[in-house]
Amino acid sequence: MSSTQPDHPEAIDGFNLIDPSGYEDEGHPHSSWTALRQASPVHRCEPEGYQPYWAITRHADICSISKTPNIFLSSPGIVNVQGGLGIDRESGVGAMRTIIEMDPPEHRVYRKVSSPWFTPNALSRLDEAVEASARELVDELAGESGEGECDFVNAVAVRHPLRLLSTILGVEREDEPRILRVTNELFGADDPDLQREGEDRDAAMEALGLELFQYFSKIIEDRRVNPRDDLASVLANGKVADKSMGPMETFGYFLIVMSAGHDTTKNAIAGGMEALVANPLELARVKADQELVNPLFEEIVRWTTPVNYMMRHAARDCEVGGQAIREGDALALFYASANRDESVFEDPFVFKADRHPNPHLGFGYGEHFCLGANLARRSARALFRELTSRIEFVESAGDPVWIRSSFVVGLKSLPLRYRIRPAG
Ligand code: HEM
Repeated sequence: MSSTQPDHPEAIDGFNLIDPSGYEDEGHPHSSWTALRQASPVHRCEPEGYQPYWAITRHADICSISKTPNIFLSSPGIVNVQGGLGIDRESGVGAMRTIIEMDPPEHRVYRKVSSPWFTPNALSRLDEAVEASARELVDELAGESGEGECDFVNAVAVRHPLRLLSTILGVEREDEPRILRVTNELFGADDPDLQREGEDRDAAMEALGLELFQYFSKIIEDRRVNPRDDLASVLANGKVADKSMGPMETFGYFLIVMSAGHDTTKNAIAGGMEALVANPLELARVKADQELVNPLFEEIVRWTTPVNYMMRHAARDCEVGGQAIREGDALALFYASANRDESVFEDPFVFKADRHPNPHLGFGYGEHFCLGANLARRSARALFRELTSRIEFVESAGDPVWIRSSFVVGLKSLPLRYRIRPAG
């Protein structure tokens, strides 16, 4: 916890909770959240340059809000960005619609287009590809000698989810780096190292959207003529009320799967590895008992909480945690704070590979519960199984660097030195 974060509720205006630079410099604002959970769990924030909002920091309040999606809406916007989004929502890519920004009853209808594809049974068909990706990446790390140094984010964390998402969305292997670059540019929009070059940010974002639209349109056309066993085919041929989805809805679906699926999983994998390096006894326990890989990944999602918050807007006057909320008010559900709620988790600031129970909110809760949670679990568990069973030694080889983002939060680089059992 950083000492520079305000820890008296009266001093917390919400700026440090939502501004990306603090996350880059100091990581999560845990001391502020801890203070808010105790003294002002539904806290009015009016940070300069941002939309005023209520900071919701307790697990129970986030759950009750998420269970009433008719009152707490996602469609007015799920992020709080300095100066607003600056995107024209009426035309171009700004008009694109995705399930994460829909409300019931429409949300359920669109979610159902793909949800059968994401059930554990249906996903088991991907196990072979997932395990092959994990093995290849760890083989590559090990090389012939088994010893080496790497930036774990770029060597492994970025590549494992990218390969899987590319497979399910029909992206050719040689196009993976390009799709990665464009996704980074879109979701690292606050980070100068990840942004698309160009003076005019709005024009740059528009160009980015167009590039992806053209790329996925080709895949959509192909899967309409030659459907296969992949998610791309399900989305390309998806119907709502017996009619094919419109081009913006179909494109939006590709984009939300790609973007919601990639950086989140990448940040969980990188942050999980960092936690194992920092907690060698936990790593040793998982090495000794591979059954722990499943609870380990749940603990990693709690610990890292890659989706830091989601916004909701009140559809009418109501009350949350005894606090009056007015129609139109914005609320930030800080999942990362709920995941350290001391009334729910024993020793919330301790990383425990076998934590049980672990009712974390890292995948959200209720109506918008992560559609890809089962896929993320299958793919990350395969990777941590491969890593923990083969790592003989690992230590930090330099300071980790955080992404400049308050929304999807995580590491940009994680230098490691290691010895890993080579292939064969
Ligand atoms: C560790 C990895 C992941 C984390 C931590 C994560 C987290 C989340 C969270 C917190 C939400 C809830 C959003 C809300 O409250 O409005 C969400 C929704 C969503 N996630 Fe994930 N996610 C992960 C992986 C994935 C993957 C792999 C995919 C797709 C392949 C995916 C696709 C989605 C979609 C489509 C939604 C929107 C669901 C809806 O609005 O009904 N996620 N995710």
